[in-house]
Order: sequence, then structure tokens, then C-alpha cells
Amino acid sequence: MKTLIVYYSLEGNTEYAAKQIADATGAELLCLEPVKAYPTGKVSKFIWGGKSAVMSETPELKPYAFDAAAYGRIIFGFPVWASTIAPPLRTFIRSNDLKGKRIAAFACQTASGAEKAFVKLKDELGIDALEAELTLLDPKIKPDPANEEKLRAFCDSLK
Ligand SMILES: Cc1cc2nc3c(=O)[nH]c(=O)nc-3n(C[C@H](O)[C@H](O)[C@H](O)COP(=O)(O)O)c2cc1C
Repeated sequence: MKTLIVYYSLEGNTEYAAKQIADATGAELLCLEPVKAYPTGKVSKFIWGGKSAVMSETPELKPYAFDAAAYGRIIFGFPVWASTIAPPLRTFIRSNDLKGKRIAAFACQTASGAEKAFVKLKDELGIDALEAELTLLDPKIKPDPANEEKLRAFCDSLK
């Protein structure tokens, strides 16, 4: 069964984790990119990204190739924004038929909110449970053995 990691990353933490998971599991990667990039400025990212998350926006994405029939499992990866999923994931989920897929997810955050974000993700997908969940604290900018250990356990649980 092939696995695809579908992720969005504004500042590289989610991408860092996505690549680690791909290396450990052999999964393929699909990076979602909004047509209109979110700003990365210290304040502007919270204003624009925060508003977009709170408003449950569905930002238009740059074209991507996704053959749903080719994958039995999708792993979603996202930064927690205002205790919910980063909006590009919503656009992807609403644009594709993921029925019958196994779904796992990982979230990157600075402090808290991932639990609520996983609930929102499940609501968006119309499912009761994820196959596996992983929460990491800024894994790229704050290297920590705890993150590496959690990453390993998550990957092992998917084997
Ligand atoms: C708009 C915005 C909202 C955020 N909201 C939260 C939050 O609710 N809780 C939290 O712990 N971190 C929050 N963060 C921090 C990011 O989730 C965290 O730094 C994450 O690791 C960034 O991943 P990335 O580098 O892949 O973008 C927020 C960041 C942004 C830009």
C-alpha cells in the first residue's frame, strides 16, 4: 500500500517533519502551495494566517498532481494555526475524494492547540478517528530528542 504525505508548511517545521517521515516510511510527498503565499513577517503572519484559519478559508492552491487511486494511505501534515488546521489542507480535502483511505496526521506547533486541530481535521474529513496522530514542537527550529523519539514511534506505528 502506497502512502502519500500531503502537507503545508509556512516556515519549514512541517516540511522538516514530512521529510523525516518520508525517509523512515518510504512515503511520497505532496507539498501544498497557496497561489497567494501567506506572509512570513513576525506580525503579518499571525494577522493574515490567523484570520484565514479563524475564517476557515479555502485558499486557492497552485496546481498539483494527485492520483487518489494510487494511494491507500494519506498522512496530513500541518502547522497549527489558531488551534486549527492551516487552511491549505481544507482546500485539498474539499477538492479530492478520500473515501476509503487510511488517514494519519501530524501537527507542528509552538505550544498548544493540536488536539483541537485534529478534531477539526476529522470533522473536515468526516471521520471519527485517525490511524495515528503526532504532535511536534517546532521540530526544525528547536531540535529536541523528544521530537525525534515521537517521530520514530509515529513511523513505527504505521508499518
Ligand atoms: C498564523 C499562525 C497561527 C499560529 N497558531 C498557533 C497556535 O494556535 N498554537 C501553537 O502552539 N502555535 C501556533 N503557531 C505556531 C506554529 O504552529 C508553529 O511554529 C509551527 O511549528 C510552524 O510550522 P511551519 O514552520 O511548518 O509553518 C501559529 C503560527 C502562525 C503563523
